[in-house]
Amino acid sequence: MHEKLSPARLEELRKMDRAHHLHPFTDHAAMHPTGTHVITSGEGVYLYGEEGKLLDGLAGLWCVNVGYGRKEIADAVSRQIRELSYYPSFFNTTTEAAVLLADRLGRMAPGNLKYAVFSNSGSEANETGLKIIRQYQILKGKPNRTKILTRNYAYHGVTLATASMTGLPNCQQPFGLPLPGFLHAPAPYAYAVGREKDAEAYGQECVAETKKLIEKEGPDTIGAMILEPVQGAGGVIIPPAGYLAGMRKLAREYDILFVADEVISGFGRMGCWFLSEMWDLQPDLMILAKGLTSGYVPMGATMVAQPIAEALMKGGYFAHGFTYTGHPVSAAAALANLDIIEKEKLVERTKDKTGPYFQKKLREFAGHPAVGEIRGMGLIGAMELVPKGGRKELKPGMNLGILGAAKVRSEGAIVRGIRDLLAFSPPLVITEPQIDEMFASVRRGIDKLWD
Ligand SMILES: Cc1ncc(COP(=O)(O)O)c(C=O)c1O
Repeated sequence: MHEKLSPARLEELRKMDRAHHLHPFTDHAAMHPTGTHVITSGEGVYLYGEEGKLLDGLAGLWCVNVGYGRKEIADAVSRQIRELSYYPSFFNTTTEAAVLLADRLGRMAPGNLKYAVFSNSGSEANETGLKIIRQYQILKGKPNRTKILTRNYAYHGVTLATASMTGLPNCQQPFGLPLPGFLHAPAPYAYAVGREKDAEAYGQECVAETKKLIEKEGPDTIGAMILEPVQGAGGVIIPPAGYLAGMRKLAREYDILFVADEVISGFGRMGCWFLSEMWDLQPDLMILAKGLTSGYVPMGATMVAQPIAEALMKGGYFAHGFTYTGHPVSAAAALANLDIIEKEKLVERTKDKTGPYFQKKLREFAGHPAVGEIRGMGLIGAMELVPKGGRKELKPGMNLGILGAAKVRSEGAIVRGIRDLLAFSPPLVITEPQIDEMFASVRRGIDKLWD
């Protein structure tokens, strides 16, 4: 268990990788001289590879909520494959696992989000949401409501439409995006504009700007407002008090559907099953993926409010679905994963124990000379980094987060570097001593940031 690759095998893999593998979100010219890292095994919060043992402070990509190597999920997947490896849910048919998961999600999702449409990723779940919004608006006699309102720093996926929803220039510029009809309102990212001391007032200004944008575009042309209640990949942006309530109110005022993208926040990370429930957002659609299966196998779900689902069911043929929509193996993995989260009370534990401890340890960095701001809730957090001389010396393209994450990795923990910040999102099974261990690596890493 956890054996290292031999140097010869590692070199062989790196050679094949250089010759034949284009990686996602990777600068190949920077990676090829040294070669890719190869992760070979995982258990709990730890990963093993040629670098040795690493504490995974990002849960893969914000998704491995129950930690690595869970036998219960392996057994459920194995059982399902032996019994029925695959059958679609097209054409009046389905499988037991898909029905059980739809029923379970329909009962646990907040408010009247009673129906699940399955897919294979967060991008597909958002893309599915976009098509449902279009069809619903057409069925309601409002075919002109095709525009979609999202925000700067949003991350909703990488397909043409979901990358258009995403508000990050590096995800759009290389592809000539966004497509027409995707609107971006300001994000309540107070630190980015030097307003962290009056974040609440800044949040209200963002709501007022969004209102202006809606008025300028014409409310009757906008189908939906889609937002992550806490923005994740854009930099762990925690909304100031009153901001989300203001955005929800705007959507109601203009009869715009409200969609909560809970791909990261769903299934416990912030100390609740869903932020929509904790913050009473009453979304019309809710987007799920990642923690649904803890990343063991791919799966996404678009939760649909009852009145919209009823309109779709009465609206004739629902001409949407992927070959693997409701895949029984993914559904079996999701059910076993949800059993673990419930049985081990990972949501309650994050809320009452590990989340508060993690936030306390994170905030101990507040006085560090290389740290500009700390943000977070539950088991998610961010640390803005500053160069020598302080924040006034910060220049575009410094990428202190990328630099910092590399230093932390060489000290034994994986964290995410985003622009000039570090992001943290460990598996929910992390213990208090492991949180100490992770932040000890972070401290050793950022102590060397200015070297
Ligand atoms: C909030 C949010 N929505 C959607 C996505 C896209 O999910 P996927 O990468 O599974 O397509 C992500 C991925 O990080 C996400 O964080």
